[in-house]
Amino acid sequence: MSTLQKKEPLLPSIAQEVQFPQQKPQRLSFRALLAVLGFVYLSLALTKSTLVYSRIRGDSRKVICPQAGVLTPQRNATFWVNLGDHIQSEAFKTRAIDWLAGAVQVPTESYDNMDPVGTDPRWEAFGAFHDYLSTAFPLVHATLQLTKVNTYGLLYTWKGSDGGLKPLLLMAHQDVVPVEPSTVDDWTHPPYSGHFDGELLWGRGSSDDKGSLIAILSSIEALLEQNFAPTRTVVLSFGFDEEASGRQGAGQLAEALHETYGDDAFAMVVDEGGGYAQKYGTVIASPAIAEKGYLDTRVEVITAGGHSSLPPTHTSIGILARLLVEFEENPFEIPLTRQDPYYWTLQCMAEHAPSLPHTLRKTIRHSAHSNKALHNLGKLIFKDPATKSLVGTTQAIDLIQGGVKTNALPERAWAVVNHRISTSSSVDATKAHDLELLRPLAAKFNLSYIGFDGLISEEGAPSQGTLKLSDAFGGALEPAPVTPTDPNSAPWQLLSGTIKATYNVHRGLEGSTNVAVSPSVMSGNTDTRYYWALSRHIFRYNHSRAGNGTKVLGGIHTVNENIEGDAYLEMIRFFTTLILNADEATSI
Ligand SMILES: *[C@@H]1O[C@H](CO)[C@@H](O)[C@H](O)[C@H]1NC(C)=O
Ligand SMILES: *[C@@H]1O[C@H](CO)[C@@H](O)[C@H](O)[C@H]1NC(C)=O
Ligand SMILES: *[C@@H]1O[C@H](CO)[C@@H](O)[C@H](O)[C@H]1NC(C)=O
Ligand SMILES: *[C@@H]1O[C@H](CO)[C@@H](O)[C@H](O)[C@H]1NC(C)=O
Repeated sequence: MSTLQKKEPLLPSIAQEVQFPQQKPQRLSFRALLAVLGFVYLSLALTKSTLVYSRIRGDSRKVICPQAGVLTPQRNATFWVNLGDHIQSEAFKTRAIDWLAGAVQVPTESYDNMDPVGTDPRWEAFGAFHDYLSTAFPLVHATLQLTKVNTYGLLYTWKGSDGGLKPLLLMAHQDVVPVEPSTVDDWTHPPYSGHFDGELLWGRGSSDDKGSLIAILSSIEALLEQNFAPTRTVVLSFGFDEEASGRQGAGQLAEALHETYGDDAFAMVVDEGGGYAQKYGTVIASPAIAEKGYLDTRVEVITAGGHSSLPPTHTSIGILARLLVEFEENPFEIPLTRQDPYYWTLQCMAEHAPSLPHTLRKTIRHSAHSNKALHNLGKLIFKDPATKSLVGTTQAIDLIQGGVKTNALPERAWAVVNHRISTSSSVDATKAHDLELLRPLAAKFNLSYIGFDGLISEEGAPSQGTLKLSDAFGGALEPAPVTPTDPNSAPWQLLSGTIKATYNVHRGLEGSTNVAVSPSVMSGNTDTRYYWALSRHIFRYNHSRAGNGTKVLGGIHTVNENIEGDAYLEMIRFFTTLILNADEATSI
């Protein structure tokens, strides 16, 4: 997984050097032979240590954040250039903006706790959205095969001529977070207007995530208009409840895909996620190759009820309060390791961002071979809570309840502690941590202790009540498998090269150093959480442009969500380039 763990090419060359002095010992006396052996041993030891040393040094120079070159289609080179001109034309721009505006105008809100499709009428909005898509993108709907999964999940298949190639899977979601009714008046343009002011397109979903979804469909419509027929199959999978856990949409789409294609069947999966932004004197693109895990620990204290006039020293609420204090006084320890994907992000900044603070760069470089520097690096970067939350397991007490009446002792009190699990930890380790943390207090308050998987305390222990930990909503999720990003990982190389090609062509630039591509971690989860079995190469990246200090990014999940028209056009270029590059790749 780690680019730093991969290099083992030096052992054979050590073996060769060992043989060299052994070639002519036959005629030598026993003493001389001993001397020769001693020499061999010594030189072997010396060679080895020098080699190991230079290997570490070599690694830290050569392998740190290696960059792919610009990748443009070769077989369809002219086609790609012409397609780019087509996308850049005023006529196409107008149509592309209209496509997205029309999509924003169909509100497709998803809510927490919606009943299944077919019973909850709120899902019906998605039917109108489907109608819109089929009129807006006639060629897509005439050419691609469309299967609807669980009524509103959209699964498009664009069959390639070579069935032996693993398909490319592109994802996006149709739903948007609801507009809070009391904020409607705060919007500069009404939330479902899709208004385009010449620069920005406004409305809920314009960015998250109809921007991606419509950019993908626009790309394919444009490719079809130019008579492109793929060699590699392209599959599109659009869920409809990503903002509300994704169970009914992506959950079922993934199952359908798995049934048809099986394990690790896709060359690569690309879903919403990272974009590119100006950082420390360069532009860094950040495809997310890892996602943190998730656990809601419910902490419940059950004690005898009774009249408040005759209270025990500690009620269930008092005990719960003490337990919660224990959590906050003992945050998770967060060691920074070289295997942490965020560590690779740091290395990329050290290598490619010219105005990174000097001390930080030095510490990052040094940390490649010094544990002390690594430790100092952790201390340095964890001053920023956002960074800390990307690396370590977090805890936040988010819900609490207990008691119904002032003259009745509360028989039960509970709270929920939300955890986002470090990519280097697991659901089990997080459960074990919580169990251990509260164990002394369970004993102190004479509570029998029920852990996630059953009774913990000895039977017959003195019990004033029960302390019970559980997975509050059954939504525990392991950290996602880390997508490989080493120089031998062809899908990562292809994605990186595509990002560079897109960035360059959109600005008329040349060369491979205008943008650096860095692996990154996502602290939230996308619909890809259901897709792990389908591919080892999952990327959360939609080539969105983040504000660069001159312009504040439109309010995703809040008022005034918007997208720059030009950034959206660049996304269309990204998806067309990705499809064409993947189409002719022989290594993915
Ligand atoms: C790209 O993905 C990010 C992360 O999920 C999302 O916030 C953003 O709105 C997406 N952008 C577009 C244009 O879809
Ligand atoms: C793309 O390249 C292939 C292989 O050379 C060719 O058969 C095909 O016609 C090209 N497609 C277009 C639309 O030019
Ligand atoms: C940042 O914004 C300025 C002004 O709009 C623009 O000239 C520059 O190219 C932008 N940089 C990036 C990386 O988009
Ligand atoms: C727990 O039980 C022991 C033994 O029965 C008793 O001495 C102690 O006071 C109890 N502690 C609490 C907090 O109830």
